[in-house]
Order: sequence, then structure tokens, then C-alpha cells
Amino acid sequence: MVKFTVIGGDASSDLAKRIARRLKAPYVKTERKVFPDGESKITINHIPKKSIVVVVQSTYPPVDTNLLELLSIVSKVQKFSSKIYTVIPYMGYARQDREFLDGEIITIGVVGKLLKASGVKKVLTVDIHSKLALKELKISSENVSAMEGLVKHFKKMKMKDPLVVSPDLGGQERAKEFASLLKTGSIALKKHRDRKTGKVNIISEKVVVKNRDLIIVDDMISTGGSIIKATQFLKRQKCKRVFVACTHALLVNNAAKKIKNAGVSQIISTNTIPGDSAKVDVSKVISDALK
Ligand code: R5P
Repeated sequence: MVKFTVIGGDASSDLAKRIARRLKAPYVKTERKVFPDGESKITINHIPKKSIVVVVQSTYPPVDTNLLELLSIVSKVQKFSSKIYTVIPYMGYARQDREFLDGEIITIGVVGKLLKASGVKKVLTVDIHSKLALKELKISSENVSAMEGLVKHFKKMKMKDPLVVSPDLGGQERAKEFASLLKTGSIALKKHRDRKTGKVNIISEKVVVKNRDLIIVDDMISTGGSIIKATQFLKRQKCKRVFVACTHALLVNNAAKKIKNAGVSQIISTNTIPGDSAKVDVSKVISDALK
């Protein structure tokens, strides 16, 4: 039997503990102290011997602080273990996977270089924003899906004939997968994002959603702009209730409240990012991939 030790960073300690329990592995705590000048000091509480070390740390806000903590932990761990798996449940910077405007830097590629330089050999992540982001990391990697877990949660909610909606064409396949697991149909809206201001608009023609309960499915919610615009559009088409399912709920700048005010009944997300909406646990899908 493979012997694992799980080390949890500050951003993912609860999820890391759950993964450790599933792997029947010891859990090692880390401590982060942030000095008044903003620098962090990271300490690993106990140095494990002779095991495969699983480091778990999401890189949600404060993104760079959490990323630096991850890099620091891995760079320490590689001194005493030759086998490390780096689990980054929510991969920050994955949306910066291409040069949208001239001069833009593909930052996910820079993150890949930093991870590699720190000693990361293999990355495991959950529902990364795009396949391109995974490719740009240029590290051996695996992406697991939280869709089954999210669908399981919605099945328990016993909704009557819901329709699954992707807020943009990029998420069409995800919505189709969600709908097929839920044994229902799906549609995708057309979204336009101004690359300079970041503002989004729904540019779809009319859709047939009258009197139907809807589940908007997305990989992530950041400011909530995409979900709010989609909800307002769908409400104008006289739909019934709107629910939201997403893997990563960043919900920055009071997004949860704004989304509620736009008419969303409930947001359901996973614990790749802890928070009130994180009702779906991804520790099983992660530990199954590690075994
Ligand atoms: C975009 O392609 C993503 O899948 C999300 O829809 C988007 O990043 C969410 O960002 P926000 O909540 O700020 O609209």
C-alpha cells in the first residue's frame, strides 16, 4: 500500500484534512505568519519521512500570497521527499491562458515556470478554466471534474424538469455534461466580454425558458458579472427560479449579494474554495485520482 502524507496550505487546510482522512494518511499542518510589510513566513509543523507527499493549496485571493505559500511548501518538501503530488484545487491565473490583447502576458505559463522551479513534478487540479491553461503550465498534470458531485447535490434538490444553461458558448460542453448526468436538456447563451473593461453582456437572441426552473452552470464565479447578466436576461424571458452551480466560487466584491439581488435562488459550489456556498466536497474525486 502506498504511504502518503498530506500537507495543507493555509488556503486549503480543511480540504487537505479530508483528503488525508480518505487516504488514511497523516496530516501535516503549516503555519503562515504575515509580517506588517506584507511578507509571509511559512512553517511546516512536522517533516514527514519516507512517504509520497501530497501538498494541497488552492490559489484563490489573496492569489499571489497563496501561490507563494504553495511554492515555499513545495520547495521545502522536495528537500526530503523525491515523490510529491501538488494538488491545486482552484488554479488561479488559469484565465490568463492566451494573449487576448497585444502585449498581454500568458501568466499561467509564468506560474508553471515558478511551480517547476520550486520542485513541482505533477499537478492535480479540479475543473481548470481551460485545456489551454493546463497545456500552458507545461508540467505533467491531471484535471478532475467536480460535475458528478454537483449534479448529485442537485438531484437531491428534486427540481422539476430543470433546464441547464451555460452563460457562454465556451461552457457549452460543461453544461451538456451536467445536463446529461441530470437527465435533462441544456442551452448555451452568447456572452460578450469587453477585453479592456472586463464588462460582460449577453448577446443571445430569445431563448425558450418560460416557466422553467433553470440551473446556470459555470466553472467559476469571480465578480458575478457573467451570472448576473445571464440571470437578468433569463428572467426577462419569464423563466421560473434560477439556481447556479459552479466549481469555484470566488465571489469577490460582494458578488454573492449582487447575484441574489439579481434573482438567483441559490448558489451551489465546491470546497475548492471554502465559503457559504461550498456544499459539494471534492476530497473523494481528488483522493481517488491520487491512489
Ligand atoms: C469565463 O469564461 C468563466 O467561465 C466565468 O464565466 C467568468 O470568469 C466568471 O467571471 P465573473 O464572475 O467575473 O463574470
